[in-house]
Amino acid sequence: MRLNKYIASAGICSRRKADDLIANGNVKVNGAVMREMGFDVSENDRVQVNGKLIQGEKEKVYVVVNKPLGYITSMDDDKNRATVAELVADIPERLFPVGRLDYNTTGLLIMTNDGQMTYSLTHPKHEVDKTYVATVAGILSDKRLAQLRKGVDIGGFVTSPAKVKVLKQNPRSTVVEISIHEGKNRQVRKMFAAVGNKVQTLERVAIGNIRLGRLKQGHYRKLTREEIQYLRSL
Ligand code: URA
Repeated sequence: MRLNKYIASAGICSRRKADDLIANGNVKVNGAVMREMGFDVSENDRVQVNGKLIQGEKEKVYVVVNKPLGYITSMDDDKNRATVAELVADIPERLFPVGRLDYNTTGLLIMTNDGQMTYSLTHPKHEVDKTYVATVAGILSDKRLAQLRKGVDIGGFVTSPAKVKVLKQNPRSTVVEISIHEGKNRQVRKMFAAVGNKVQTLERVAIGNIRLGRLKQGHYRKLTREEIQYLRSL
């Protein structure tokens, strides 16, 4: 965040007054006087105004990551496995995953430092549609499709109606697109297990209108302004 905006965001003064403070040498960054209004303040910088340390608002950053297999959705891991934090390590802000994807699930994961958004997107009351493409063993009969669409018991919990569409089928496996709005642990795997088809691969392709598109595994992209507005509106 630009230094003048950062000072204003701490609630001390307007941005114009912040410019004056900077120009007059009243502002220090990491102990040294800083006269550049556009100086880019990053997370670990210490900003002082008239000798007093201030705490500005943090720039909110929103990205979509394509999580590869074998990464855990966590900031660190006691078993030393790869974490999704490593996928955004070149972003100075500390970004947290919004919700979870299994170790063996690939695809769309939103990461942000906006705690309010994380809270609303993961709150069971506002659960937004999440769309997955699953490859499952065997054929998914019409009866099983109907069960998934109606709701299945995944062990003490009956799922809400899901949107399910067969994309491809051969005698050994079926590729299915499935949208659910709940977020129970391993829910999609459990739903297919409940009707008798084991999930072989699972990829999340969308959360609401936010789509993975052609983003490569292990890569991230920033959300567009429209996508951020859309998520806020949910
Ligand atoms: N459902 C699952 O079974 N696994 C995931 O990672 C996400 C949804």
